Amino acid sequence: MRHLIDFTDLSEQEWQRLYRRFEEIAERPGDYRDALRGQTLASLFYEPSTRTRLSFEAAMLKLGGGVFGFSDPAASSVSKGETLKDTIIMISGYANVVTLRHPKEGAAMAAALYSSAPVVNAGDGGHNHPTQTLTDLVTIRRLRGSVGNLRIGVCGDLKYGRTVHSLLRALARFEGVSAVLVSAPELALPGYVKRSCKNLNLTEEPDLRAAAGGVDILYMTRVQRERFTDAAEYERLKLRYTLTPEILREAPKDLLILHPLPRAGEIPEAVDNDPRAAYFDQARYGLTARMALLLELCSLPPFTVKEPEPGGGTACGNPRCITQTEPYLPASGGGVCRYCEHPLVTPPGV
Ligand code: CP
Repeated sequence: MRHLIDFTDLSEQEWQRLYRRFEEIAERPGDYRDALRGQTLASLFYEPSTRTRLSFEAAMLKLGGGVFGFSDPAASSVSKGETLKDTIIMISGYANVVTLRHPKEGAAMAAALYSSAPVVNAGDGGHNHPTQTLTDLVTIRRLRGSVGNLRIGVCGDLKYGRTVHSLLRALARFEGVSAVLVSAPELALPGYVKRSCKNLNLTEEPDLRAAAGGVDILYMTRVQRERFTDAAEYERLKLRYTLTPEILREAPKDLLILHPLPRAGEIPEAVDNDPRAAYFDQARYGLTARMALLLELCSLPPFTVKEPEPGGGTACGNPRCITQTEPYLPASGGGVCRYCEHPLVTPPGV
């Protein structure tokens, strides 16, 4: 691992080490009070966040390090037209780790090309969110004892839900995991994510009640309003699925209910006192998981950056791809965009 762009950047050994470190910090947080004294975290949030930004910042502070950055790009030179490349070249010279959240898919991958410090993808558009997956997996392992051999239902916005994309890809690396996909057809899991989950037993079930009755974990997500171009379409789809106490009456007694949060009505507050509701524990574990990750990243040997060659390649046609707003980025060869993973289509006549 040098950067964490998606969870699958971690080897099996790195995941095991992170989990062991998570447990150690949870047991003896005082032992880590000064572990990163003198180190700095750059927290670059081009998109709103509560949990990811603040838990990373709290994690660095609890380890004795320092934090700087922005939570509103309008208050930085991004508002004057500064490129992602220039921003990252400079900021990575000021910091030991850079966390980046950006509305464009592939932004973290692009930033990593120019960064002299490890880049952590804190969410790139509707693409990936690996540290949420780290949070989800430590929660599952801590509360269930292991991650493999489980049935998980994922419900809501599977099209734009980056937490779902990263989670399913990570789960595909464990043995015996089956996933039940519950979504409106308009918000179904994209083909490029399905193709990268070959080891997962994936089925679709449009009925949330039926899905909840047959799984060990139910992972609810909100419909991602910020990704819609048509407000009426969002209104039509936003509460297609609601996990009511009535549905839960028939669900397994040992079900684990997870949600990356924030929620937007798909889990009513009436569910919060259900002993199976673990989403606030999940958010709490996210802080410790990010402490473990920062310790790992800050212990990496320094590296130098080699400016990428422009090369040939095909321009990506995905309007949500980072290459649409940062046109200097080297184009991708092969069949898929190296940044956002969408299939590349050669324009006619080329
Ligand atoms: N789960 C998550 O990414 O939450 P935030 O958007 O608040 O960071």
